[in-house]
Amino acid sequence: MDELFSAENLKWRDKAREIAETVVRPLAAKYDRLQEYPWEIRDALKEAGLFGVWIPKEYGGHGGGVLDLCLVVEELSKACGGVGVLFAVNALGSFPILLAGTEEQKKHYLPQIARGEKLIAFGLSERPAGSDASGLVTNARQEENGDWVINGQKKWTTNGGAADIYSIFAVTDETSRSRRISAIIVEKGDEGFEIGRKEDKMGIRCVPVAELHFDECRVPGNRLLGGKPGLGFKHAMMTLDRARPGVAAQALGLATGALELATVYATERRQFGQPISGFQMIQQMLADMATSVEAGRQLVYASARACDADVPSLSKMAAMSKLFCTDMAMKVTTDAVQVFGGYGYMKDYPIEKYMRDAKITQIYEGTNQVQRLVIARNLIKEAGRLDNLSAFIPLPDHDNTIADQDRAAQTAGA
Ligand code: CAA
Repeated sequence: MDELFSAENLKWRDKAREIAETVVRPLAAKYDRLQEYPWEIRDALKEAGLFGVWIPKEYGGHGGGVLDLCLVVEELSKACGGVGVLFAVNALGSFPILLAGTEEQKKHYLPQIARGEKLIAFGLSERPAGSDASGLVTNARQEENGDWVINGQKKWTTNGGAADIYSIFAVTDETSRSRRISAIIVEKGDEGFEIGRKEDKMGIRCVPVAELHFDECRVPGNRLLGGKPGLGFKHAMMTLDRARPGVAAQALGLATGALELATVYATERRQFGQPISGFQMIQQMLADMATSVEAGRQLVYASARACDADVPSLSKMAAMSKLFCTDMAMKVTTDAVQVFGGYGYMKDYPIEKYMRDAKITQIYEGTNQVQRLVIARNLIKEAGRLDNLSAFIPLPDHDNTIADQDRAAQTAGA
């Protein structure tokens, strides 16, 4: 499959693979146990220049886009799902700046992120606004001197506390229906900005997920993303479209990693006088796992390419790849634990962590129920393009069916 990638794609994938095997895998269990941010892993990723892969060259990155992001996330997630998201969440946080920032904002923030010097997070969700993202209540008012003053709380912010920069979504016009929300950049150390409760999680334990608290948090006027209020919700949706292939890549990496471990274990573990890989029931499981992993891989690369080419169907493609790969990863990692049997359930073995890490991928960056909604809404919108089929679909009260027409044509012919 390497033939399908450019030399640049392979360069970043191979760098990520090397770090995953030499740095991430040996440390994965330690940081899972400690539930602490692995700064030594961040340093290795920074040293290798990986934080620049999705950022354009003019802003200090390598210009690779979403495909390179996915290739790197897949490799890291094979060794640790937490490290996969620890890396990918910087793309989620920086996409609003890339998509909507002013030239001045892009030039100021993106190079620092590309160099890995500053980490970034995305603050959209709130206690009352999870799937219903537009129901958020954190608000920002503009003072006479142009400053923005933010009040409210964010929930489940991945990278919260570790990040230096935060893309925050807040209500700036309560009276507007479609232009209610704006994005504002908040930095660590801004007056009135505190990190709140840090969550104790089932999986992805090396990356912090925290509340963000804003109490009369004051930031200068030039932190309003794009310089224009009211476009925040649209930009949040466009960001999620481009970030969801990264979650799919995280799930793909987890599934691939679990499949590799299960396959090796099956060839080594002996029962009834032979390796369990000799039993057809195990072979069937491994074959089904491998087939669904490969199907997911094609969807990840296709959706990443759709984002990079900015095609109209990218929202649907991204949702499909997130939906398919994360459900697939949950099944494959659960089956991998099954292949390991009783040992697989124990923390002494690396496999149960894959199952724990996989679960969140079905939930964050839009639950898989939300992905189905996005896919269905797009399908219905696209139905107009299939107008020509209406002629072949009789309405229920229509007595001139296709079969009637066919019979009439035959009679006429005879
Ligand atoms: N691109 C551009 N614009 C879009 C869009 C898209 N993909 N989707 C919607 N919009 C626009 C619409 O055109 C509409 O614009 P107008 O008002 O001008 O007509 C506007 O946004 C509102 O759209 P909807 O009516 O479709 O919005 P909705 O309220 O029905 O919500 C939803 C739709 C898909 C359910 C959305 O709320 C959603 O995606 N929810 C999930 C949120 C999510 O993924 N949260 C995760 C946050 S990140 C995280 O998990 C934490 C972390 O740190 C990793």
